[in-house]
Amino acid sequence: MKSADIIESIYKTADATRDELRFIIENRSGESARMLYGLARERACEYYGKKIFVRGLIEMTNYCRNDCLYCGIRRSNKKVQRYRLTKEDIMECCREGHSLGFRTFVLQGGEDMYYTDDIMTDIVASIRAEYPDCAITLSLGEKPRESYQRFFDAGANRYLLRHESADPEHYRRLHPAELSLANRMECLRNLKEIGYQVGAGSMVGSPYQTVGNIVEDLLFIKEFAPQMVGMGPFIPHHETPFAHEKPGSAELTLFLLAIVRLMNPKVLLPATTALGTVENNGREMGVLAGCNVVMPNISPMSVRRKYMLYDNKLNADAETEAAYESVKKSMDAIGYEVVSDRGDYAG
Ligand code: 5AD
Repeated sequence: MKSADIIESIYKTADATRDELRFIIENRSGESARMLYGLARERACEYYGKKIFVRGLIEMTNYCRNDCLYCGIRRSNKKVQRYRLTKEDIMECCREGHSLGFRTFVLQGGEDMYYTDDIMTDIVASIRAEYPDCAITLSLGEKPRESYQRFFDAGANRYLLRHESADPEHYRRLHPAELSLANRMECLRNLKEIGYQVGAGSMVGSPYQTVGNIVEDLLFIKEFAPQMVGMGPFIPHHETPFAHEKPGSAELTLFLLAIVRLMNPKVLLPATTALGTVENNGREMGVLAGCNVVMPNISPMSVRRKYMLYDNKLNADAETEAAYESVKKSMDAIGYEVVSDRGDYAG
């Protein structure tokens, strides 16, 4: 079987076997990549046209109780200047974001116990009341089902929780012993049952990751069928145990994003900031490989440099409006249009 036949079959059936995935990944070439990108782009266009949804990312806290080996804001990193945004700070980000045209706000943070369910529910309810036309996405890590339910009832619509690795052994090598893939999966199932649009995903080229692990990630995503997938390259952070590991490549990331698009035709798929960080024009290349979402940062300037999950993050110094304008321009340059829209999953 040749790569071209396998890619054609994934395009037609939106499915693939373990062996097929392994084969096209291990034997990938410029030629097979071009074919894959073209079909992935076509698929995205069928459901979403040449439109790009934007999500305003608000990095609300860099306190975290966890100690993930790859992450710059892990609790053992004593060099981080920790911060928390108040409800008023967050509302101000939304106000600026809304006036620029954002219709989805993503509240992301470390697992920070300061934000009790009462505090979080109040923040979500306030955004919901002020911006009834907007989607609210949360990305706050693992919580009990009851907490997820309360946030949902207060008006949250979506939740991002990458599975990080679908292989329990690999998952364990990336995380401290108190975290488990089983609990992560439990959280993902709970979120889906409650009714959130859910985002799963993983890093590409994380330490110890094998092609077998990547194949399991792709099959897990197919089976779990999340509405969103976050997949970007691993990038080392100098104050973590993985400081000297190699970053993931843009080339492999793009190849996998295109496969994700073909296997999950309607998925909301961001061209990540990490992809834009490892490669010039990485986000544009992501769109040309089937992505349809970009997530510009709308956090206050004063905290931007403090939310560093990895080194050299793209646009860490750019003003909200300037960064948003540059995204619009770069999408325009490749024939895509950033739209002011909630950008829900195509039903
Ligand atoms: N490189 C790339 N992505 C990272 N993330 C955390 N640390 C890094 C890193 N060093 C990703 C994780 C997490 C998301 C918020 O950011 O996959 O789920």
